[in-house]
Amino acid sequence: MNNQLIDALQWRYATKKYDSSFQLDPKDKETLEQVLQLTPSSYGLQPLHYIWLEDKALLEKTKALAWNQHQIIDAAAVLVLCTKTELTPAYLDAHADLMRDTRGMQEEQIKGFRAHLHASVGSKPAEQIQLWNDKQAYIALGQLLTACAMLQLDATPMEGFDPIALDELLQLKEEGLHSVLICTIGQRAADDHYQHLQKVRHPKNSLFTTR
Ligand SMILES: Cc1cc2nc3c(=O)[nH]c(=O)nc-3n(C[C@H](O)[C@H](O)[C@H](O)COP(=O)(O)O)c2cc1C
Repeated sequence: MNNQLIDALQWRYATKKYDSSFQLDPKDKETLEQVLQLTPSSYGLQPLHYIWLEDKALLEKTKALAWNQHQIIDAAAVLVLCTKTELTPAYLDAHADLMRDTRGMQEEQIKGFRAHLHASVGSKPAEQIQLWNDKQAYIALGQLLTACAMLQLDATPMEGFDPIALDELLQLKEEGLHSVLICTIGQRAADDHYQHLQKVRHPKNSLFTTR
């Protein structure tokens, strides 16, 4: 398992050119959705929403506001990772309710957590909530990239797009959402020379210390 994991992470790279004839197996798509569903988040609040972009016109428009990155057209799947723009008291309550009901708890057992959520999350200014929510999307992205590598699917994480323009295109504001990341998924083109490049990483002795 250890070698399998490292081999998969060595194999993966931020794919620049996809084989546009490759289709995503529905079973793999289902697995990736489960992976994203299982992503951890602060307090388990899951302030996330994922959009599979499939409409050709939307894909073309998205490419135009993403530095014309061709992966958006050629990849088998394009996922937009979005976060909630706010965490309302009703949302916090719904989360506490879900936890209570999922775990068969009494209200008495959840009320401390519920109060803590309201006090801690409810007191954060809007910009801080947005930033906090966006961080959760990066956790999901990391998990997604590793899962793709394990499934021998190529992927490209993308911040290189205009999120305000994409929010407008997908009318996300109206749904209380905001786009944070795009991830394209598919199979590398045989002539994508990036697949042959050495990984550029700091040595482990500069990354880790023990105290
Ligand atoms: C958050 C994030 C945003 C990125 N945005 C882009 C992007 O818009 N376009 C792109 O081609 N690569 C993008 N990358 C890929 C990085 O450049 C790449 O992961 C890094 O150079 C390391 O190379 P490797 O992933 O091939 O090992 C992004 C990576 C991350 C983690």
